Amino acid sequence: MSQDIKGTLPDSIVLPRHVAIVMDGNGRWAKRQGKPRHAGHRAGAENLRNIVKYCGDIGIEVLTVFAFSSENWRRPKTEVALLMQLFMDALKQESARLRDNNVRLRIIGDRSAFSARLQRQMGETEAITAACTGMLLQVAANYGGRWDVAQAVRRLVGRVKSGELEPSSIDEAAIAAELTFADRPDPDLFIRTGGEQRLSNFILWQSAYSELFFSDAYWPDFDEAALNVALRHFAGRQRRFGMTGEQVVTQVEGETSC
Ligand code: FPP
Repeated sequence: MSQDIKGTLPDSIVLPRHVAIVMDGNGRWAKRQGKPRHAGHRAGAENLRNIVKYCGDIGIEVLTVFAFSSENWRRPKTEVALLMQLFMDALKQESARLRDNNVRLRIIGDRSAFSARLQRQMGETEAITAACTGMLLQVAANYGGRWDVAQAVRRLVGRVKSGELEPSSIDEAAIAAELTFADRPDPDLFIRTGGEQRLSNFILWQSAYSELFFSDAYWPDFDEAALNVALRHFAGRQRRFGMTGEQVVTQVEGETSC
């Protein structure tokens, strides 16, 4: 399926290097089918497996997905417990598949809130895939964009206190360098499924210049073809980074002329 769908993208399409996704709509997907919410999360996990494979196949460098926000602890205890079990099962079951597909896993977020068992499994799956050189899959778990900025500031303050850093040298670059995935490019394309149009405290700093794409599809239904629609939208956008459209055209012409 992946290969056929891939063929529907033009060879020359400009792909985003980094795609970020808020996987919303699992609960409503389940409700629509008369199933319990956990069935939606399971279907969401299966869909994630397909999307990870597809993104790796087409050459996306980084895929960052929002699996559990720092606010999701407010959900009913039974749903939280089920999500934890789902993460555990997925990490165990997917480790070998990720490695075989050359996908490296990184968990981002404050993992200290998870059980010792789950933290251990996170570390194990990261270790199993550590040598993979293909796509980086970043799973945000107990993550919040504000938490990310706060932990960066905390680290900077520590460096100031130790005398390593002058307060006057704290600028945007210094803060960005302390964020959780400072070693990777910011997301070019930010997708949210499930019909809502908000950021929900996901990668707030890093998405400052991301192109936004909102899909009405519930996450379990957001398949490769739906992702292709988002990729085509992205390819059609002019990214100006504060410049005028004319400046961008001139810059691109300059880069492509010999
Ligand atoms: C949002 O849908 C989804 C979540 C809070 C959980 C996302 C989790 C998965 C896709 C499971 C797989 C992840 C991994 C890493 C194994 P919602 O429950 O808010 O849906 P609703 O808005 O329709 O209620």
